[in-house]
Amino acid sequence: MDEMTRLSARVLELERLLREREENDSFRLVFNSAPYGMVVSDESGRIVMVNPRAEEMFGYSAGEFKRRRIEDLVPPALRSGHAGQRHHFHRAPSIRSMGAGRDLYACRRDGTEFPVEIALTPLPGENGMLVLSSIIDISRRKLGEEELVRYSKRLERSNAELESFASVASHDLQEPLRKIRMMGERLGAIAGESLDEQARDYLGRMIRAGDSMHRLIRDLLAFSRVTMRTEGFTPVDLSATARDALSALELLVEETGAIIVVDDLPEVEVDEAQMRQLFQNLIGNALKFRRAGVVPRVEVTGRVEDRAGDLVAIVEVKDNGIGFDERYSERIFLVFQRLHGKTEFEGTGIGLAICKKIVEHHDGRIHARSTPGEGAQFVVEVPVRRKPDSPAAPHSA
Ligand SMILES: Nc1ncnc2c1ncn2[C@@H]1O[C@H](COP(=O)(O)OP(=O)(O)OP(=O)(O)O)[C@@H](O)[C@H]1O
Ligand SMILES: [Mg+2]
Repeated sequence: MDEMTRLSARVLELERLLREREENDSFRLVFNSAPYGMVVSDESGRIVMVNPRAEEMFGYSAGEFKRRRIEDLVPPALRSGHAGQRHHFHRAPSIRSMGAGRDLYACRRDGTEFPVEIALTPLPGENGMLVLSSIIDISRRKLGEEELVRYSKRLERSNAELESFASVASHDLQEPLRKIRMMGERLGAIAGESLDEQARDYLGRMIRAGDSMHRLIRDLLAFSRVTMRTEGFTPVDLSATARDALSALELLVEETGAIIVVDDLPEVEVDEAQMRQLFQNLIGNALKFRRAGVVPRVEVTGRVEDRAGDLVAIVEVKDNGIGFDERYSERIFLVFQRLHGKTEFEGTGIGLAICKKIVEHHDGRIHARSTPGEGAQFVVEVPVRRKPDSPAAPHSA
């Protein structure tokens, strides 16, 4: 080998060393700055290298780690099984995550355990196969998940309590109220003539206030009971349900000379009694909030939409009545919220709150659109079929 060849071989060797060193340096950089714990172990389970995050996670210093085996990081009850799994991994090494579908735990120096996610990467080397375990401490995530489950359970409980409170309270309020109204009427009957004008006015107002409170309590009770009394979900032709609802409104339809058009509506899995109530409230409103001097016209239309594989039935109830300012299109679904005067249009403001509760009980949505003076449109969306995990049984409360 002449001088020149030797020199160029030397240069090549230097280049290779430099490249290796650079690669090593970048590996070290990544290794040391990784946000998850990294532990490299050999075939016998001896720990050969750790990063700072692993030291922090497990409470061992780098020096202490090197006197440990990978099994020391596993909860004691699982150590013997782990050695077997390690041999298995070395026989068929591949990049994989550990314990798919199982909750994994790791063990700190002080013996405390914490939930982890682990990915294994084989690192073939000159002295045999090494394994890189990348470890994420998921205690916080787990805590978050548990908190979420606890929170939703608490919410469910408090909802049920609220419903039964409203029901019990309104039921128990009825009795004393009945007495007040009855006594007021009796007083009017026996002493009405002897009372002066002002006293009679007071008495009259008292009785009227009692009547209106009676209606409020009755409606509150109806509202709180809506979803308690479910008859279960069955496939129902909504056109038939809408026509049923109309027969309950017959008198109003006759009085107002209204034209009501019910289109072919989809067949949907619903609680039929609740859907009848929904139509009755919506069509009832459409007739009540009519424009003076204009023949009321109500159109009930429906269609089915495929939303990413989920079939949704959309039913619209549209009228040509007085309409309302769309600013209030959410408020009107709240209990006792009304936009129009009591003297002009009777009612307590419970109808749409009941509609909303019914639709939500069907995992659906309801919203309203309107232009004042031109009419209103209520849009109901409910899934055509019940999801298997949807509660079909009556609510207990
Ligand atoms: N079709 C409609 N056109 C115009 N305004 C409407 C219509 N439907 C509802 N509203 C407005 O929304 C308010 C709330 O409706 P909701 O049915 O809850 O109560 P209500 O009809 O006044 O009383 P209740 O239904 O208890 O007899 C109504 O008071 C009215 O102001
Ligand atoms: Mg109403």
